[in-house]
Order: sequence, then C-alpha cells, then structure tokens
Amino acid sequence: MGQDKLFIFDTTLRDGEQVPGCQLNTVEKVEVAKALESLGVDIIEAGFPVSSPGDFHSVVEISKAVTWPTICALTRAVENDIKVAAEALQYAKRGRIHTGIGTSDYHIRYKFNSNREEILERAVAAVAYAKKYVEDVQFYAEDAGRTDNEYLARVVEAVIKAGATVVNIPDTTGYCLPSDFGNKIKYLFEHVDGIEKAVIATHCHNDLGMATANTVAGIMNGARQAEVTINGVGERAGNTSLEEIALIFKSHKELGINTNINTTKIYKTSRMVSGLMNMPVQPNKAIVGRNAFAHSSGIHQDGVLKNRESYEIIDPKDVGIDENSIVLTARSGRAALKHRLHLLGVELEKEDLDKAYESFLKLADRKKDINDDDVLMLVGKHLNKDARIKLDYLQVTSGIGLQSVASVRLDIASEKFEACASGNGPVDAAITAIKQIIHRHMVVKEFLIQAITKGSNDVGKVHITVEYEGNSYYGFSANTDIVAASAEAFINAINKFVH
Ligand code: KIV
Ligand code: ZN
Repeated sequence: MGQDKLFIFDTTLRDGEQVPGCQLNTVEKVEVAKALESLGVDIIEAGFPVSSPGDFHSVVEISKAVTWPTICALTRAVENDIKVAAEALQYAKRGRIHTGIGTSDYHIRYKFNSNREEILERAVAAVAYAKKYVEDVQFYAEDAGRTDNEYLARVVEAVIKAGATVVNIPDTTGYCLPSDFGNKIKYLFEHVDGIEKAVIATHCHNDLGMATANTVAGIMNGARQAEVTINGVGERAGNTSLEEIALIFKSHKELGINTNINTTKIYKTSRMVSGLMNMPVQPNKAIVGRNAFAHSSGIHQDGVLKNRESYEIIDPKDVGIDENSIVLTARSGRAALKHRLHLLGVELEKEDLDKAYESFLKLADRKKDINDDDVLMLVGKHLNKDARIKLDYLQVTSGIGLQSVASVRLDIASEKFEACASGNGPVDAAITAIKQIIHRHMVVKEFLIQAITKGSNDVGKVHITVEYEGNSYYGFSANTDIVAASAEAFINAINKFVH
C-alpha cells in the first residue's frame, strides 16, 4: 500500500473484443492499441493467443507497434496456453503473461470437477511455469467475487510466493456489492503474507450496474491496478469503463489517486472504438455519451450559462469535447468536416477528404443535422471504395399487396453485371438478385438493422454474417436507405471471400 499511482490496465482488445459483433481485424486492433498508448494506458491486454491464429497474430503485431505500455496476453492455467502466449509476446518491449483459474466453488465443482487443494496447486504451477518465460506474471482468480475470502487469501498468498507480480481479483459475474468487494480487498491486505510484493488488481463486470462502484471500492481498500475498457465494452453487460475511472480520480483529488491517462484524448478514443467495433455508445453514458454534457431543461441551461459549474462537474474540454464544436449541416464547409474528423481521431488526405465531403453533402441533403456517428459512417463507407465488388445500382419495388422486386447492378473489377429477383420483402429481393450474380453457396446467418440515433431520417446500420464454405464472414454498411445498407453489407461480407 502507500502508492498513489493507479495502473490502468485496458482490456478493450481482449474482454471487449470477445463480445459478438465487436470483432476487430489485426489492423484495427493495432490502431486501437496505438490510441490506447497515446491515451496513457499502462498495460494493454492484447488478446488470448491460444484461442485463435488471429488473436496470436494480433498480439504479435501490437507488441511490435506499441512502445510504452506493457503488452499482456491472457492464458488459462494450462502449459500450452502459456507457451503460446510467451511466443506471441516475443516482440513486446515489456511483456506480461496473465494466467489464472476459477477459484469460486461454482468453478471448482462444476467447471473443473475438482477441489480447492487441486486448484491451488494448478494456480501455483501455472505461475511458476509462466515465470520461466517472463518476469512479469499476473494471476487472475476467476470469479473471485464469489470466492470464499479465506480460500482466496490462501490462493493469493501462494501465487505471490510463486512469483506473481500482479494478482487480479475479478468480480467475473458482476455480483458483488461495493461494500463486499471493498471488504474483500481489505481482507486480502489484512490476511495475505507478502501482499506488498504484488500489485492487487480489480476486474469488475457490470451485470448489476456496479462495475465502476466496485472498482472504486477496491481501490479505496488498496488495489492499485484497475482493469477497464473503453466505453465499458466487455462480456455481457460489460466491464468497468476507463473513462469513468480516469475522471473519478481526476475529479476527486482528495482521494489522492493519480492515473497516467491524458483525459483530453478520451472522447476521440471512445468514438474510434465505438466506430471500429460497430458498438454504439448509449446517449446517457457517463463521460462519453452524446447527452453527457447536454443540458436540455431551461432551468439547467440558464444555470450553465450563468456559471458552468452550476450543473457541470466536468469541463467537457477535459475529455476532449470541443464545446464550440460546429454543428454540421448541408451548409458546412470542408474545413468543418475536416475539423470534426480530427476531433474524432480520423485524419484524411486531401483526395479522401474531398470524397468524404461529397458523400457528406449528399447525406446532409437527406438528413438535417449530421452527428458524429454519421460522419464516421461516411468515412468508413468511402474507405471501402477499393473493394472488388461494388453496388452500382439498386432499384426496389415493394409495398402492401405487391410482390417485392429488386434490380441490381454490380461493378465487379470494373465490369458490370445485372440481375433482377423477387423476394418476400425488399431486402430479400435485393439479396437474391445479388446471389444471382455471385454464384456461390452463401447463407445469411445473421442480419441486424440498427438506427444510429433517432428520427425517421436517421442512418440505419446493417450487420450481416454470411456463411461460405464453413466459414463466417461479417459485413457492415450504413445508409439512410436500409435496403441499400442491407445490400451493401451483404456485398461487404462477400468481398471478404471473393478475390
Ligand atoms: O471476468 C473475468 O474473470 C476475466 C478473467 C479472464 C480475468 O475476464
Ligand atoms: Zn472479464
């Protein structure tokens, strides 16, 4: 104890990325990792290398791309996992293996069909084995939130003796009350011999909406590493969010806890992660939600105009939100679009900016106010311009009492192909017409349409999963025309396997 630096361990690329629909490719993961580095994150959990060749490769590439943060790789308490993680970390300037095992009776009995003594031995053996590869070994006691404190203390003491430099106490199921979780950490500090040799970490899930409160309780009782994700993404209801923890300790200086986070980069990083993961941020999300600094009632607006602090405890500038940010409309110029993109973490060359601006004007004709999500969609969209297959033309007829019919023209490597098909609705007709041109056995496995914000003039986002030759390919598009977005998302997926 006694330290006041709080280490920020970001697991957006591991716990966050394992959420269905949030998968990133290696290039995107490297982009996020660099943003996390520039944000000031101390440790980046880059993946679970044994879980897939893609995860392995991402850990390798992130290790090469990032300089300052420690790069961490997750494993089970299994020798081969640890060996593979060590291999993936070979280029890391500072590498950490994060190994562990379930310690609650639920995990011991039902997951492992084992007993406490055997699990304790496996925990120690995993740490000792990981120590052969790296000096920095973190141990996680999965479901520590529901683990008996006395047994947990024995496990923590044993793994620290075996060389663990960090011990992670996850509330895996998000079950704990803040007072229970705080007391658990306190109990460990009071009962574990040698606890000062390791950093104690919190890793809280948000199933009951208490992830951040539990993390703060853990830190107030001696934990000095907070495991977090951008926008709180993560399994089920998510993890503690980085932005909340950073701003809590920045706002409450009296707590004497400092982080290395450059909070002015928070908003930009949040938008980037939300865009890349296709995971909208809820409008009322603390710190980064669209409404986090919006004062709508007359009384609040009046109060803020007289003195910002009447209703605002955080200066929006502190999280990188430009108060004077210009509202984008059909009358906005290129410079305004460029400035907004810059705030959102996207820098475009002149030629790309010109194309984005053209698409922007077209969208602005159909939609009055262009928000940040729209802008990111536009950019994501025109960056697909080099795809082999493009939707060149689409016309659909549909309505009550009418058969839906779609005419489609595709541009495939600059050659044009046309087809016409009917379906049980306009989307089905368009997809069937595309299938007539691309003669492959493709099955649409998942199809999801989301409105980005609100209003009938909103942009619709379409996520699609297409199965082809036993593999699943994810496609995405956004458009104010949801039939066009569906066809484009289907083509986006096809482009991933037709070369
Ligand atoms: O929630 C959890 O317990 C985890 C561990 C793998 C650290 O994510
Ligand atoms: Zn977790």
